[in-house]
Amino acid sequence: MTTLVIGARGSIGRHVLDQLHTAGEPVRASVRDLSTAGDLPAGVPVVEADLTRPATLGAALDGVRRVFVYALPADPAPFAAAVAAAGVEHVVLLSSGSVLLPWTADNAIAREHREVEAALPATPVRPLVLANNALAWARSIRAEGVVRVAYPDAATAPIHERDIAAVAVAALRDPRTPGVSDLLTGPDPLTQREQVRAIAEALGRPVRLEEIAPAEAEAAFARFAGAETAAAILEFLEHARHPGGSPATDTFERVTGRRPAPYTAWARDHAADFR
Ligand SMILES: NC(=O)c1ccc[n+]([C@@H]2O[C@H](COP(=O)([O-])OP(=O)(O)OC[C@H]3O[C@@H](n4cnc5c(N)ncnc54)[C@H](OP(=O)(O)O)[C@@H]3O)[C@@H](O)[C@H]2O)c1
Repeated sequence: MTTLVIGARGSIGRHVLDQLHTAGEPVRASVRDLSTAGDLPAGVPVVEADLTRPATLGAALDGVRRVFVYALPADPAPFAAAVAAAGVEHVVLLSSGSVLLPWTADNAIAREHREVEAALPATPVRPLVLANNALAWARSIRAEGVVRVAYPDAATAPIHERDIAAVAVAALRDPRTPGVSDLLTGPDPLTQREQVRAIAEALGRPVRLEEIAPAEAEAAFARFAGAETAAAILEFLEHARHPGGSPATDTFERVTGRRPAPYTAWARDHAADFR
């Protein structure tokens, strides 16, 4: 029963691939450009698949029973058709927990994920906040030992990419597993200030937090993510300033029977990214 991991070089996709491969389950990895496949594990077949080039999908899906895929901005219709034509039994979609929050009707990030969920028959996995978001702080930490954020006391429960992958793997093995599509978070809400402190501890040197105005933060996000996404990120942070605005759930524990990794473990795993 081969599983195709689309986006196998992605942070979460790579853990999905590794967890299935380590368990001895047949897996196939896909990348958009085969010349980038070099760091994938030896012994895993690698194929080319690009959701924006439907002609690449037939061969990638040939003989595949289960698929892991990201909620990518490309039109999901050709992918959905290719999945059906290949006789794939089920698809697990890395979506976003934002689709479950009551106030996100006009939030661009939630809307994009809702659109993909609606267009693609799949089991969604819905993390709310990726611990990896803090990698956006890596450049200024490396260069100046500084993090500049708006709303330093906004609290979220970021989740380790390895834990998101574990829930996706549970969904791949059995999409009826209770809880796989529930709001998925890390263990405890942590303010941005506390997250920066955890990174400094993992680094073994101080990191200064500088508060900036929300408009300045939004402009900085807009430079790499576009204006609409930047506004959506600021909206998440604004809600995270209030109790329950970015909740922590027990979804990971209910699905896997284990506790999710604490943020301090994520910081240790990524200390090299900040050096
Ligand atoms: N930031 C948050 O707090 C948050 C919260 C909830 C959900 N999410 C979701 O998490 C995602 C990020 O996860 P991540 O960090 O694991 O992502 P990532 O490391 O950026 O990996 C994305 C993968 O998608 C693949 N990809 C991109 N375009 C593709 C295409 N046209 N066809 C096929 N594959 C394509 C890339 O493949 P190549 O290796 O071939 O380039 C890459 O491996 C976000 O996009 C969002 O949907 C984020």
